[in-house]
Amino acid sequence: MAVILGIESSCDETSASICINGKVINNEIASQAIHEQYGGVVPELASREHQRNIVPVVDHVLKHANINANELDGIAYTRGPGLLGALLIGNSFAKSMAASLSIPLIPIHHMKAHVLAHFIDDPKPTYPFLCLTVSGGHTQILRVNSPTDMIILGQTLDDAVGEAFDKAAKLLGLPYPGGPMIDKLAQEGDATKFDFSKADVPDLNYSFSGIKTSILYFLRKEVQKNQNFISENINDLAASIQDTLISMLLEKLIQAAKQEKVNQIAIAGGVSANSRLRKVLNEYAIEHDWEVFIPDFQYCTDNAGMIAISGHLLYEKKAFGLLSDSPLPRMPF
Ligand code: KG4
Ligand code: ZN
Repeated sequence: MAVILGIESSCDETSASICINGKVINNEIASQAIHEQYGGVVPELASREHQRNIVPVVDHVLKHANINANELDGIAYTRGPGLLGALLIGNSFAKSMAASLSIPLIPIHHMKAHVLAHFIDDPKPTYPFLCLTVSGGHTQILRVNSPTDMIILGQTLDDAVGEAFDKAAKLLGLPYPGGPMIDKLAQEGDATKFDFSKADVPDLNYSFSGIKTSILYFLRKEVQKNQNFISENINDLAASIQDTLISMLLEKLIQAAKQEKVNQIAIAGGVSANSRLRKVLNEYAIEHDWEVFIPDFQYCTDNAGMIAISGHLLYEKKAFGLLSDSPLPRMPF
């Protein structure tokens, strides 16, 4: 029995959430539109926005859940990985609040929290399960044995798949973050129209840097012939790029499921919001006899609901941190 406040501030979303006895009551997210004009997240601007948003966001979730701060049993916060300046805001806020209330601090690994987001809503996976964790900074296939025991079976050797979506979108002249834009445009496109070569990487690892170069050269060549090539083919380009990235992701996932003899398959992280990935995964569920777990949209991209539920699971294990813990921009897995 515990009331946990979760705080997320690793990148460009300031978010807070209340979890009561394992039930996530709310999930307030203040997004930062300011970065759009720069084509990516500007770390210093992110810190300033977090500073501005953190008090109102935390205040809002407490009021909404009808919880007084002194009824909290613990504060879970993202210790890393992420942008140092952004993490510092959430870390300092969580520490001062926990110190003033004399309650435990629960430091959370952001990528593990993406995985544990599966324990917010039903149906929940049972251990062990595999999780394809796909975000702007990570691409991993994990074997999840417990909330604290996750093994990396494979991961990207260079760019993350979210980064590949964003960079491809930039080449198409789309605003940041490009992933959701590609998803939207692809819905009206023909994915078989253009072919982009996939990297051949051993084991369960990935490589997404080559595809960006192959898109760049392809577009350069076509635009030389027809200046309007991109605008005339934007939907087909988006669909073809998206399908290439998704098939790369899923080929290795199938291999991992066979290797580990596990048929409970989850996806997590920002790219798991992709509608095509969700659809294909559901088709694979039938074809490969998988039980597939896909989080609700609000728990795919960065959110404090996943931090609060992780806090709940780790509170039970008394995995508490110290006031002297510093943020870890490259927090080891
Ligand atoms: O997990 P997340 O919100 O932040 C990180 O921890 O990185 O993931 C952000 C990434 C971005 O690269 C964004 O373009 C991608 O997730 N993304 C998507 C979609 N929604 C977000 N990529 C493809 N399709 C989407 N619908
Ligand atoms: Zn994330």
